[in-house]
Amino acid sequence: MRAALLRDDSGVLAIEDVNIDSPRRNEILIRVVASGICHSDLHFLDGTWPASYPMLLGHEAAGVIEAVGDDVVDFAPGDHVITCLSMFCGRCERCLTGQSYLCPNARRMQSRPRGETPRLTTLEGEAINQFTGLGSFAEQMLVHQNAAVKVTDDMPLDRAALIGCAVTTGVGAVFRTAAVRPGSTVAVIGCGGVGISAIQGAHLAGARQVIAIDLEPRKLQWALELGATHTVNPADGDPVAQVRELTGGGVDYSFECIGLKQTAEQAYFMIRTGGMATVMGMVPLGVNLEIPGADLFLGSKRLQGCTMGSNNFIADMPQLVDLYLGGRLKLDEMVSRTIGLDEVNEGFDAMKRGEVLRTVIAFSA
Ligand SMILES: NC(=O)c1ccc[n+]([C@@H]2O[C@H](COP(=O)([O-])OP(=O)(O)OC[C@H]3O[C@@H](n4cnc5c(N)ncnc54)[C@H](O)[C@@H]3O)[C@@H](O)[C@H]2O)c1
Ligand SMILES: [Zn+2]
Ligand SMILES: [Zn+2]
Repeated sequence: MRAALLRDDSGVLAIEDVNIDSPRRNEILIRVVASGICHSDLHFLDGTWPASYPMLLGHEAAGVIEAVGDDVVDFAPGDHVITCLSMFCGRCERCLTGQSYLCPNARRMQSRPRGETPRLTTLEGEAINQFTGLGSFAEQMLVHQNAAVKVTDDMPLDRAALIGCAVTTGVGAVFRTAAVRPGSTVAVIGCGGVGISAIQGAHLAGARQVIAIDLEPRKLQWALELGATHTVNPADGDPVAQVRELTGGGVDYSFECIGLKQTAEQAYFMIRTGGMATVMGMVPLGVNLEIPGADLFLGSKRLQGCTMGSNNFIADMPQLVDLYLGGRLKLDEMVSRTIGLDEVNEGFDAMKRGEVLRTVIAFSA
């Protein structure tokens, strides 16, 4: 099959033929129909986060089951699925108390069992590292069965792909991690795929004020069309001061969707007393945030992280599909461009230039 491999630190993916095994115990083979390009892929491509080569990026995908391992009972060839990197064992304390996104066994499930032959190899026979156990910049994915959920055939797979990461993360941060209350005030810093999803989530949750913050005017325009009530451009002055002005002292909830020290700290400083700041951006390893301890306790403020929208994705993703099919979650508007696998590098360039909400790679059948 064809795949886009990260071979080195050049910042460019190489389209190559690679070998893929057939599914064994607990595994499913998926024909990838669509994959979004997420900024988390870009963090590994541009070296913001460390990669191990050769690496197959891509983790926001939907497709059709082609084959299943002997003991797999929940999937059959022909099933439509969305994948998720939040693999879970279903038996540990976290899984059994509603926090499967924190399953400590996920990492083991994301990598091939010790001693087993690699599942994906280059034509020279070198093992390929599947990013988060997925790797969707390829015509097929061989993954653990607990990395996918079945969805209705009515759901267009090129829209379903976005639910695989950005939408689950952004909407989940609002619904699950922060549990935004109706009538509250919300600010979202960074209006890309994740931030726009958080804005849509805040709108669906009944927030009365949803403030979108981004440096790109076109992102702010899209935010207004998808649920924001106000916009703030940091180019016009300190975004914290602008949010405080708009809200008369700060928001109830803020969400950081970029991954910078500066914007994560802004997320904290723009909440009111009793407010909650949630950081979803992938702040690089070794970067520390600075928050005044006295203000934190005197103001009864909360600063928290959020991985993958605190999802229990087997339950959440079909609900998000229903919200889309019911016309309440807007995914068509989030797909700025559809490209082929050969154009994946241009897809990343468009993200770097801030031109797109999401680029989706569509694979022909
Ligand atoms: N927590 C999780 O589980 C999770 C899941 C998915 C993505 N992420 C992370 O979320 C972040 C956002 O991902 P994305 O795919 O939406 O990215 P994106 O590139 O689509 O969007 C980022 C946005 O931030 C804006 N921006 C950049 N610098 C800014 C600044 N200083 N002030 C205001 N706006 C600024 C850009 O214009 C862009 O619109 C990334 O760090 C990604 O790795 C985390
Ligand atoms: Zn992602
Ligand atoms: Zn578990």
